[in-house]
Amino acid sequence: MELQFKRHRRLRQSANMRALVRETYLHKEDFIYPLFIVEGENIKNEVPSMPGVFHLSMDRLKAEMDEIVSLGLKSVILFGVPADKDAEGTGAYHNHGIVQQATRFIKGHYPEMIVVADTCLCEYTDHGHCGVVEGSKVLNDPSLNLLVQTAVSQAEAGADIIAPSNMMDGFVTAIRHGLDEAGFTDVPIMSYAVKYSSSFYGPFRDAAESTPQFGDRKTYQMDPANRLEAFREAESDVEEGADFLIVKPALSYLDIVRDMRNEFTLPIVAYNVSGEYSMVKAAAQNGWIDEKAIVMEKLISMKRAGADLIITYFAKDAARWLSEK
Ligand code: PBG
Repeated sequence: MELQFKRHRRLRQSANMRALVRETYLHKEDFIYPLFIVEGENIKNEVPSMPGVFHLSMDRLKAEMDEIVSLGLKSVILFGVPADKDAEGTGAYHNHGIVQQATRFIKGHYPEMIVVADTCLCEYTDHGHCGVVEGSKVLNDPSLNLLVQTAVSQAEAGADIIAPSNMMDGFVTAIRHGLDEAGFTDVPIMSYAVKYSSSFYGPFRDAAESTPQFGDRKTYQMDPANRLEAFREAESDVEEGADFLIVKPALSYLDIVRDMRNEFTLPIVAYNVSGEYSMVKAAAQNGWIDEKAIVMEKLISMKRAGADLIITYFAKDAARWLSEK
């Protein structure tokens, strides 16, 4: 018999032929754009380690939202950078907290926009940890009450989705009960189910001023060496009633994104974190890479790995590039 070989190149011979067999697409609807809201007036300060990402005061939010809407983006995730911090992170669950104010503003002026509220304490605590601290320990159960209060106050302000990121055990159950009791049975929970203790969060901690003042987050965030633990974390969040599962970071954890896609039927969200953003920006500013090509390749990789949605600081850039075609 004649020796056979397969002609895979038949399907790659022209742009239209390649388009015909393309398996994965990016849409503007896939992106959730992070915003950092600060107290004060007339502030639009670029975060030094995150070119193109700004601290915005409330009065500068309208222009930013107009741009976001005009680019065709449909959802944002809000982080607050409060002027004052304390041991219990009271700014996180204050009715007039910075995220609550920004949420009211956005839902008042752009009612269609999906507002995701990041539900955590680390930006609001003076020690920079994501929960209540006793000595050098971050306490689990006492932190839950504060998280529930945060989630309920965010829902009261109009948040469409609650995204708890603090990695305390039982947070989905606690927040679900809290939301339901307060009448917010229809507000979904986008759980940071699988969140690794990652060095890729460095620039975010500059942006959110949330670096822990002692120790690290290794007793609550996951060990980058572990895979099976991701199944345990996600499984309990699914049982507790989560509506979305986040895997964070994205790029070094695409195997985990794929695992979660194969194992669970909930929408999977990849968080393309700050360090992943800053590295690309730095290389691009040096002229070492083609930024647009690299960013689009990274984003499509996340979708190919199984992500339905991507939280990314590149959302505005990507929306612009998608419109160019
Ligand atoms: C809050 C939170 C963090 C990020 C999102 N929510 C920081 C952290 O866990 O230290 C990181 C996001 C990023 O790096 O882009 N807990």
